[in-house]
Amino acid sequence: MSSQTRRDFLVSASSAVVLAALGSEAQAADLAPAAGLVTPIPAAFAASHEVKALPFDPAKLDGISEKLIRSHWENNYAGSVKALNAVKLKLTSFLDDANLPAFIYNDLKREHLLRTGSVVLHELYFGNLGGAGKADAALQKALTEAFGSVEIWEKEFRRLGAGLGGGSGWVVLGYNLHTGLLENYWQWDHAHAPTATLPVLVLDMYEHSYQMDYGAAATTYVDAFFRNIHWETVSARLERALKARAIWQVAGVR
Ligand SMILES: [Fe+2]
Repeated sequence: MSSQTRRDFLVSASSAVVLAALGSEAQAADLAPAAGLVTPIPAAFAASHEVKALPFDPAKLDGISEKLIRSHWENNYAGSVKALNAVKLKLTSFLDDANLPAFIYNDLKREHLLRTGSVVLHELYFGNLGGAGKADAALQKALTEAFGSVEIWEKEFRRLGAGLGGGSGWVVLGYNLHTGLLENYWQWDHAHAPTATLPVLVLDMYEHSYQMDYGAAATTYVDAFFRNIHWETVSARLERALKARAIWQVAGVR
């Protein structure tokens, strides 16, 4: 690529990134061919992530305000979707730039990892809110087999949440496809997750999840979270994970 072409490429690509960051995905896509990007952009690089609507009425949660949920959804979740798209577009534009040091490209890949985790975990978190009641018999049986009792599972899950109070992170009840274990996981940030594990129940412990309603009282927020768990979703995720485990364990495949 000549220096003139490269300069044109970078200017155009930067414009595309700015437009993507501002939410003008359609305009960014229009700029892509002019910037020398591969078209159609391969799925691994496509800035095609879309914001998903809340799967429940945010005015009807018990003890978590509509104002907090809307702020969380709009600013933190939707913000991550927009940022992920901007990062992916930038990765595409810099992939062929031989002058860009690999470690700087990796800085963007780190951001790609973080933003992907944020988008997926937020969708799972909102996805397991909006319910009430308690775990059904099958889920209670699975929790009892894994932890000794439902109460012990909940005790540990709550303890992990309390430990993350005042900071950031996630608490995840997850099913590990490799080990076949249902366990609670402490996750320090969006990129901190056990390998080969499917999340079953996700609790956001970043301060933005509760500060507006509860200040520093993180455990009171965890109480409210438990009152609003959509247990049907939790059961369905575990059922899906168990099916995935059966597929995962194909004889002869390591
Ligand atoms: Fe969050």
